[in-house]
Amino acid sequence: MQTVANFDRIGEENAFAVLARANALAAGGMDVINLGIGQPDFPTPPHIVEAAVKAMRDGHHGYTAATGIPELRQAVSADLYRRFGADVNPDTVLIVPGGKVTMFAAILMFGEPGAEIMYPDPGFPIYRSMIEFTGATPVPIPIREDKGFAVSAEETLSLITEKTRLIILNSPANPCGGVTPKAEIDQLVTGLADHPEVAIMSDEIYDQILYDGEEHVTLLNYPEIRNRLILLNGWSKTYAMTGWRLGYSVWPETLYDKARKLAVNAWSCVNTPSQYAALAALTGPQDAVNEMVQAFDKRRKVVVDLLNAMPGVSCVVPKGAFYAFPNIAGTGWPAKKLAAALLEETGVATIGGPDFGILGEGYIRVSYANSEENIRRALGRMHDFLSK
Ligand SMILES: Cc1ncc(COP(=O)(O)O)c(C=O)c1O
Repeated sequence: MQTVANFDRIGEENAFAVLARANALAAGGMDVINLGIGQPDFPTPPHIVEAAVKAMRDGHHGYTAATGIPELRQAVSADLYRRFGADVNPDTVLIVPGGKVTMFAAILMFGEPGAEIMYPDPGFPIYRSMIEFTGATPVPIPIREDKGFAVSAEETLSLITEKTRLIILNSPANPCGGVTPKAEIDQLVTGLADHPEVAIMSDEIYDQILYDGEEHVTLLNYPEIRNRLILLNGWSKTYAMTGWRLGYSVWPETLYDKARKLAVNAWSCVNTPSQYAALAALTGPQDAVNEMVQAFDKRRKVVVDLLNAMPGVSCVVPKGAFYAFPNIAGTGWPAKKLAAALLEETGVATIGGPDFGILGEGYIRVSYANSEENIRRALGRMHDFLSK
């Protein structure tokens, strides 16, 4: 058989393997509580579901433009203006099948052997997987607990070389729940003036899931980098729509047509009823978003308190997204072994920190996108397990 070297390099997202194992254990009769997968436990708000049903009834069954329906691209632009005062030309908005697709497109565009792409570590595992797939060299940007899991501008800038082609940023962040402060982003953008060839992909998919009065700082509001900024965003987390496969990107004008061509080659367009649902999400009432964030906030406090009460565990308070990233080094367990033992022996699914990068050793990711009752039951089991 021929070699398929690039496909030997592709990685994956272990949260899906853990989900499959958790489902298998549950099917075998185990009472499994899933704090592994990162998706809201709420249903998609009913008015959004109705919009998709109406689109189907109204006969929206065919392809749309590869870039998405014009009303939706317009609505994305209006939403970014409403929330951030950001000026986004709808002709630079691409509707894509999930947040992941923007990272796929951006990394494919800049990645090739000899190129370096910087990405957060610990970070969303697909960044590194895709970088390796393209043959580019992955350069981790360390995300450190003692910095509150925020990006350090100084350290990031120090890692740029003449081979750097793309820097991936993510705030609020998966898996650590960190939020990078505006001062740090200001410093980073100022430093990037010395590297005018380096592109930036800002993954802002958790931009509405913030706590303690934190306000989201979008990279869209830095005009000096707009000609090389790709914004990744979408509906999955904000509107509890992970299964609808919806996302959007904002591209520099010079790159937009290349991204459009990738869409034509790979997915033609996002499924049409989903696009009408996405339109209803952006233009309809936002109460459900606020209610979900309030619920996550309440659970966040429960999770942090319960984790900090466990022997050998300490947990910084996450400022965004819906993940806690407790330090478990004091338990003596390697992180992936602990996550596996928790699932197999107590029925609690979490993800080992190393699944998010080299610096993830010593941590596990606990998603609090689950009911408070389930969180209390799961962390009670974890406490008992670690007290043995
Ligand atoms: C940081 C980050 N970016 C992107 C995604 C992908 O989102 P989607 O499900 O819309 O592809 C996720 C999903 O977990 C994520 O955590």
